Amino acid sequence: MMDICVIGAGYVGLTTSAMLAELGHDVVCIDKDQTKIEQLNQGNVPIYEQGLERLLKNTRKKKRLKFSHQIEKEIGSHSIIFIAVGTPSLEDGRTDLRAIQSVTTSLAAAVTSYKIIIMKSTVPPGTNQWIGQQLIERGVSPDWFDIVSNPEFLKEGTAVKDSFHPNRIVIGTSSKRPVTTVKSIYQQLNAPVIVTSLAAAELIKYASNTFLAAKISFINELSRICDVFDADILEVEKGMALDPRIGPHFIRAGLGYGGSCFPKDLSALKYIAEKNNIYPAMINAVIDVNKTQIDTYVNKLTSVLTHLQGKRLAVWGITFKPNTDDTRSSQSIGLVDQLLKRGAELHVYDPMIDFQAEGVTNHSSPYDSVRDADCLIIATEWPAFATVNWQKIQKEMKGNLIMDCRNFLDLTKLQSHGFHYLGVGRP
Ligand code: UGA
Repeated sequence: MMDICVIGAGYVGLTTSAMLAELGHDVVCIDKDQTKIEQLNQGNVPIYEQGLERLLKNTRKKKRLKFSHQIEKEIGSHSIIFIAVGTPSLEDGRTDLRAIQSVTTSLAAAVTSYKIIIMKSTVPPGTNQWIGQQLIERGVSPDWFDIVSNPEFLKEGTAVKDSFHPNRIVIGTSSKRPVTTVKSIYQQLNAPVIVTSLAAAELIKYASNTFLAAKISFINELSRICDVFDADILEVEKGMALDPRIGPHFIRAGLGYGGSCFPKDLSALKYIAEKNNIYPAMINAVIDVNKTQIDTYVNKLTSVLTHLQGKRLAVWGITFKPNTDDTRSSQSIGLVDQLLKRGAELHVYDPMIDFQAEGVTNHSSPYDSVRDADCLIIATEWPAFATVNWQKIQKEMKGNLIMDCRNFLDLTKLQSHGFHYLGVGRP
């Protein structure tokens, strides 16, 4: 078992730290945010991720996981360093590498013996090589470190489970020296390992997220075509999914993709391509369909309600997907903005978060949120929405319209309660 230092106590850093500690390694997780570290040391987890709190508690109890804000001290005393800091998007689509630069400065100051530096953060191709050059320029001997690109493929909501059952482990490196050690860190996970160059590993991450987003935009565009022919997109999805070359995943039509990963990774890949004179036709199309998918639903709604001025609308689900408290780049919020612009009166309910925004009333009960509503809109498919008392909902509402932006509810059941069901690609 090894002594490991993880830099970054965000969603990836915390999940990775907890998983590594559970595998038996001794882990220190570092963050420069002292308040966050104090919170974690008191057993409070700053984010919601299913199973994470329990796992952190167990591993802390076994004394295999601790938290610290002393970055240089911990780098100095560990030979395996994971980097899991944030790499958000800048306005022009470029990746904001300030946190990576700051870690590089700490590494340059603290590396005085051999370290394996393992990059978990999603960084553009060339970044890991740049870190290596920086360290050498700042006086660190090339004999004292190897850099490994080891991207994560965790999904929010199932990150803990995903971290124990990865479908692949990618080890990108320019030297053979760190490979055996990195493989042994993950030995117990029994996952296929591929060893690649640094740049290939960096690109595998962007390529995977972009491809998944492309599947979503494809099926969303297809749902618009289904509408023209009164074809049910669910039947089309089913028929496609049975072809093993296509498969059933990520072809669920809906309001579009959101979250902290797909939008920023597509922008970054687009930026990288354009900077190198490659026209990113596919990536542009994927982004374009995703942006206009919200308009598709708004137009659908206005086609039934004629106008939205003064209409009372209930929106269920604000997080970017179910089972998370994350609202970053949520399509639901994009939809709420569009509806507000058209003069609608908005009442929202989300099982996990309170949503505060001008012109929006937040409710803590789904039944309160639909009172006198002209329409109920399902923007995120939280499982609890499927089991509400529809009779009660119907009594509370003024109208009988339900717009299901995630093709999630049972159409026949709703119709039996007298609702008019509206979706895209649903006849
Ligand atoms: C995504 C990837 O799935 C992970 O493999 C990756 O590690 C992660 O990004 C990351 O880069 O860190 P995540 O953002 O947690 O994970 O969420 P997903 O489950 O992939 O969903 C993304 C969005 O696509 C959600 O808004 C979801 O509602 C939407 N989606 C997903 C669809 O609209 N249709 C689908 O069929 C599937």
